[in-house]
Amino acid sequence: MTDIVFVLNGPNLNLLGTREPEIYGSDTLADIEARLESKARELGLVIDFRQTNHEGVLVDWLHEAREVRARAVLLNAAAYTHTSIALLDAIKAIGVPVIEVHLSDPATREAFRHISYIGMAAVDEVKGLGAEGYVVALEKAAAL
Ligand code: DQA
Repeated sequence: MTDIVFVLNGPNLNLLGTREPEIYGSDTLADIEARLESKARELGLVIDFRQTNHEGVLVDWLHEAREVRARAVLLNAAAYTHTSIALLDAIKAIGVPVIEVHLSDPATREAFRHISYIGMAAVDEVKGLGAEGYVVALEKAAAL
């Protein structure tokens, strides 16, 4: 195992900062990455922070986490959380612990957000804490 933690972000999270700020806050994804970089240094970890709007790319990156023997993956799969059996299968396949992250708390929102395929295989979850949730998730990854 290495000190690398993959931080994978799914669709529409590139628009954070301007995207429904009343739900997701006003931090951009770059702000979150900067915060995590500094927390990672503190924890002696290295983060590999990425965003894509494409489901298959997330699958490929999960496989890559296995190849590089990442310590953990923090995964905000965004809307694919609620639809993607492919991501569920990938998480089960890689043997790398995945921590589910959401800025909002999907359980308190529309019914279609209540199911999480990621949660069926993730070792832990952080929801509803906004950008700070990524930091909390990294601390959890450090403790694995
Ligand atoms: C989200 C919650 C999802 O329901 C939604 O589709 C997102 C963002 C969050 O971080 O709160 O895109 O994952």
